[in-house]
Order: sequence, then C-alpha cells, then structure tokens
Amino acid sequence: MTQEDILTAIRDHVRNHLEGEGSGHDWWHIVRVRNTAVHLGKLEGADLLTVELTALLHDIADWKFHDGDETIGPKVAREIMEKHGVEATVVDHVCTIIANMSYHSTLEGKVVESIEGKVVQDADRLDAIGAIGIARTFAYGGHKGHPLHNPDLKPRKEMRKEDYLNEKNTTINHFYEKLLLLKDKMNTQAAKDVAQQRHAYMQEYLEQFYAEWNGER
Ligand code: NI
Repeated sequence: MTQEDILTAIRDHVRNHLEGEGSGHDWWHIVRVRNTAVHLGKLEGADLLTVELTALLHDIADWKFHDGDETIGPKVAREIMEKHGVEATVVDHVCTIIANMSYHSTLEGKVVESIEGKVVQDADRLDAIGAIGIARTFAYGGHKGHPLHNPDLKPRKEMRKEDYLNEKNTTINHFYEKLLLLKDKMNTQAAKDVAQQRHAYMQEYLEQFYAEWNGER
C-alpha cells in the first residue's frame, strides 16, 4: 500500500464512522480541520502524513460521548492506523498528539509539543470560531438541550475541567467561556491572523444578538 492508499482507506473509514454524527463533530468538521491543518502544515514545514492522519482521527471517539473515558480516542485511532499498516513511529506520534490536543486536555495543563500537533490543534480551534464556530455552537447546544440565552445565567469566569463537564449552561455563555478565548491560544502565526478576523466577526454577531434580544434593532 502506498501512503496515498493508506490515507484513502482511513478517510473512508472515518467517513463511514462519523456519518450521521449530529453534534458538530461530523465528517465535514474533519474535512475542514484536515484542509486547514494541511495548509498550516505546509507553511510550517510539518510532516504532512502525520498532520493528515491526526486531523482525520482526532475526534474518532470523542470522550464526551463515551462516558468521559479519555483514553478511548487514542486507542481507537491506534487500532485503525495499525489495521491499515501505518508505520509504528507515525502511529505513536499521532496517538500522543490526540491524547494531548483536546480542549479538556489543555484545561488539565497538557500541551502538544510537535509542529504536527500544533497545526492540527490550531485547525481544530479555528473550526470552533467564526461563522462556522457560531453554527457549531448552536448545533451542539441544541444537541444538549441548552437554551440559546438566559440573561440571569452569567458566564463562569474560571473554567476548570469539572465546570466544563458540568453541562448546565446556555449557548451564549459558551462564547465567553470558550470561543472568545481561543484567539489567544493559537500556536502558529498564520492561525493567529485567521483567528483575529474570526474573533471580530463573533463579537459583531454578539452585539447584534443582544440588540435583537432587547428589541433595539
Ligand atoms: Ni475536532
């Protein structure tokens, strides 16, 4: 199998697996993260096989949907890569990145060390902000049964992992607790530039949202 055959087989596998996923971690999220990560990876001179495999497999078994079992993601990713004959050093590297790159891992102080990890983490974070980030946030809130907004429920200032897991919240609060913080968490300069522009768009969106909420516009 050539590298391209392996990637094609793993793309098909992930696509079948995520078909019908309705919470915002669907196949098209994977496609967007893959495209952005490969773009950033080229700019940064990263190993593009590692970048693409990590992007394809980073949400394969999202811990939020497996009763909080955080080891399941790297485990499933490893099985898929080994089944398709990916080289052992690459498998290990991809699994290390997946174990450390998620938002809840970073709340625990974990960091991604390699440039391959940094560009995939940037791509995943970029997909959480801007116009698509707004759409995904409301889709996820709907999935969880959260209200759009409740002026009586204030956003939490300090987010600990326990708070993040405690799901009682509104979708608008999620902007303050996560989305608006992401622009300062980008690793690469190219991602920082894109994040700045998507951040401004979200701020504008919130202004309009409140104006409409208050019957002012
Ligand atoms: Ni993701």
